[in-house]
Amino acid sequence: MGAEPTSKGCKWLSWCIVFVVVALIAGAVALVVIKKRQNDSDGPAPVPGPPGAVTQKYSDALKTAVQFFDVQKSGKLVDNKISWRGDSGLDDGSDAKLDLSKGMYDAGDHMKFGLPMAFTATVLSWSILEYGDHMDKVEQLDNAQASLKWITDFLVNAHPKDNVLYIQVGDPKKDHSCWDRPEDMTEKRPLIQVNTSAPGTEVAAETAAAMASASLVFKKSDPTYSDTLLKHAKQLFSFADKYRVSYSESIPEVQAFYNSTGFGDELLWAAGWLYHATGDKTYLNYVTGDNGEEFAEFGKPSWFSWDNKLAGAQVLLSRLTFFGGNTGNSGLQKYRKTAEAVMCGLLPKSPTATDSRTKSGLIWISEWNALQHPVASAFLAVLYSDYMLTSRTAKITCDGDSFKPADIRKFAISQVEYVLGNNPMEMSFLVGYGDKYPEYVHHRGASIPADAKPSCSDGFKYLKSSDPNPNVATGALVGGPFLNETYRDVRDNAMQAEPSTYNSAVLVGLLSSLVTTSSVVESFT
Ligand SMILES: *[C@@H]1O[C@H](CO)[C@@H](O)[C@H](O)[C@H]1NC(C)=O
Ligand SMILES: *[C@@H]1O[C@H](CO)[C@@H](O)[C@H](O)[C@H]1NC(C)=O
Ligand SMILES: *[C@@H]1O[C@H](CO)[C@@H](O)[C@H](O)[C@H]1NC(C)=O
Repeated sequence: MGAEPTSKGCKWLSWCIVFVVVALIAGAVALVVIKKRQNDSDGPAPVPGPPGAVTQKYSDALKTAVQFFDVQKSGKLVDNKISWRGDSGLDDGSDAKLDLSKGMYDAGDHMKFGLPMAFTATVLSWSILEYGDHMDKVEQLDNAQASLKWITDFLVNAHPKDNVLYIQVGDPKKDHSCWDRPEDMTEKRPLIQVNTSAPGTEVAAETAAAMASASLVFKKSDPTYSDTLLKHAKQLFSFADKYRVSYSESIPEVQAFYNSTGFGDELLWAAGWLYHATGDKTYLNYVTGDNGEEFAEFGKPSWFSWDNKLAGAQVLLSRLTFFGGNTGNSGLQKYRKTAEAVMCGLLPKSPTATDSRTKSGLIWISEWNALQHPVASAFLAVLYSDYMLTSRTAKITCDGDSFKPADIRKFAISQVEYVLGNNPMEMSFLVGYGDKYPEYVHHRGASIPADAKPSCSDGFKYLKSSDPNPNVATGALVGGPFLNETYRDVRDNAMQAEPSTYNSAVLVGLLSSLVTTSSVVESFT
């Protein structure tokens, strides 16, 4: 105890030394960090890790968008959440002794068109595979999976034999001569099939893509169903590949609605999905060999849509070069280079930026359903930037200029912000989201009061009515603005005011990415 003062002096001295040492170390660390920061401005951004904070706005928009699939469901509804919807289309398929009651109505009418419906399912599967963790975080995963299954259940039944696929329910001429609710429709529901004498490569291949991708979604939760889907996918792909004829050629009447401009894109897209689902090198060789040279249009950017899947296939296949241990595969590198060219076209400051934009920056390609292209492009952009982030890829180069994942994501955000209301019209194009959204959506079910049961032709008074829709088609993404950034909210203006399930699918994928940040899975299996 007597020794205390000395010991205190000694303590003081040692604390001083400790302090000096700590200060020196801190200084050194700070220097290293600053230096590293400087390097990092060129280096890769950090890997995001598990889902982080949720952006409330995108979470709200996602919850809204997902509901459109419930609005579009045909058949005997289960857990129906839409008060003004009920059972419909219960006898669909009966002409062929098949149950084609499920699936989804395409848009504002009651047609079931196989090509865009299958595309909707493929995009929805892709969104779940990449961003299922984000959807789960905001409680939308079960909903998204149930909607996907509602389509794939239909597709399974639509494929009763190896080389027979039903690709349409309803006759568009008859269907469009009525304005009624799906619950009350009495018009005949003829079926169209593709088969060996009337093949349809693109529709069979897109259906194969839908089932292969969905087989991955259900692999863990329902292995039996997943196997069934994969079996159908393989059969349909063989059928599509062996009988190479466009359905627009073998069944010219389909040209009036979903005319196809080619099937090479669907073959590559389907083979790409089958490779992800099976790991079978045959499919990899299929896309990297002669078929790639023939169909992939390497180096040329294109617009991702229900008709043209090339840009999607390029992003999907480039995924394998980011994670799959396939960096050295020169065939896959061509897809990646082309995916980069797509991104370079989208980035507004890139030397190769597309001019196809409105004055305030929305990608704008077509007058009909204008929003499909910006939203689909933004979906591909978030995927690509997320692949870059997770694989610690610092940048892409566009004609000498470099762009980071953050630049690509920023482009995607600019498109979704426009859609949600940050636009010269100061309105949201997502029905049910925001203060101002379209009230005269071109949608039969939404436009007719639920308790009115007009016959086929009586219902046209609701099309012509100047009152807003009595029912909100929640989650509908309407066609969107003209190039001059005007929008006529008029029910009969199908060009701008009609929604579609495939618009909602790409929007759901885009919003799911933006809800939060995280790294993507390195493999879907
Ligand atoms: C094959 O499909 C075409 C087009 O749908 C149809 O007209 C024809 O009857 C089908 N063939 C058979 C054998 O069912
Ligand atoms: C359908 O697409 C094909 C191929 O691009 C084209 O030749 C044909 O004119 C199109 N048909 C219609 C009705 O637009
Ligand atoms: C905007 O474009 C549409 C379609 O081309 C046209 O009908 C409309 O008159 C234009 N509006 C204005 C204000 O220029």
